[in-house]
Amino acid sequence: MQLTQPIILSYVQAELLLKAKQQGITSVQISPDLGLSTVIVTLTSEVIAFPNGEHIDWHSIEKISKSEVNCFILEDNAVRPIQVFSEYTNRVCSLMPTRGAPSMLIAGFVMHRIKDIDPMQDTLRKIAAISPIVGRVLDTATGLGYTAIEAAKTADEVVTIELDPGAQEIARLNPWSQALFHSPKIHHIMGDAYEVVQTFEDGSFARIIHDPPTFSLAGDLYSGAFYRQLFRVLKRGGRLYHYIGDPNSRASGGVTEGALKRLQEAGFARVVLKPEAYGVVAYK
Ligand SMILES: C[S@@+](CC[C@H](N)C(=O)[O-])C[C@H]1O[C@@H](n2cnc3c(N)ncnc32)[C@H](O)[C@@H]1O
Repeated sequence: MQLTQPIILSYVQAELLLKAKQQGITSVQISPDLGLSTVIVTLTSEVIAFPNGEHIDWHSIEKISKSEVNCFILEDNAVRPIQVFSEYTNRVCSLMPTRGAPSMLIAGFVMHRIKDIDPMQDTLRKIAAISPIVGRVLDTATGLGYTAIEAAKTADEVVTIELDPGAQEIARLNPWSQALFHSPKIHHIMGDAYEVVQTFEDGSFARIIHDPPTFSLAGDLYSGAFYRQLFRVLKRGGRLYHYIGDPNSRASGGVTEGALKRLQEAGFARVVLKPEAYGVVAYK
């Protein structure tokens, strides 16, 4: 963990600390960055002391242990939930813990799969659907940046677009998103993907990762007009992965059917269902 990074905690670390306290243990190894690294903390009757000199009281740990929807940041020895109200979209964005990589909640909707899978495994399935990831990649919806970070491991360049400054603020505080801001291969654009994609040249991407929020939050990103733009900016021989949702659920099943039809109408030669990745892959 870098010294400049704030301490971020969730119920996972809080549970461990409460258990240690119950057992009368006075020092324990916990993660200050949601599972990426560990430090040894000292437990006293009043506080938990971190090696960097910061401390947190037991009342705050109780509070964190009860929250399944928020991760917390430690600032000046006090905790606050990682949550912002985005004036731009009028939506609340927050960092949501899991036992693995965290997800993001926007207006109450979870931005990754978390049931029987964690957001990182979810990401790897999305990426596997259009692997090998080569050349220039377009990532239409940055979110926490997991798809962009993973794609950047093998791509030449990743161009990623985010509409919501609130979502970007959450990503900046997420330990698991740090490569998004440090990778020289990742190029950020703030704006509406629907408009931004219109500015790209024909055939300028070898792969497109289209991972929009649910249909009810971002209908335009499932429209025929948008799919035509994605077709235009994709290279011949290129591949598009489009997250849609559980193909077996009534809501997403209907959206999948419509999306398949519109992708074909947009010009894609072949559109294949990828149930394991909760989406479809379209080939140009
Ligand atoms: C499902 S998340 C993306 C998850 C991301 N691929 C990851 O790996 O973490 C969807 C993101 O799209 C953003 N978004 C919503 N509408 C958008 C738009 N019109 N243009 C670009 N981004 C948009 C949301 O703010 C949210 O951060």
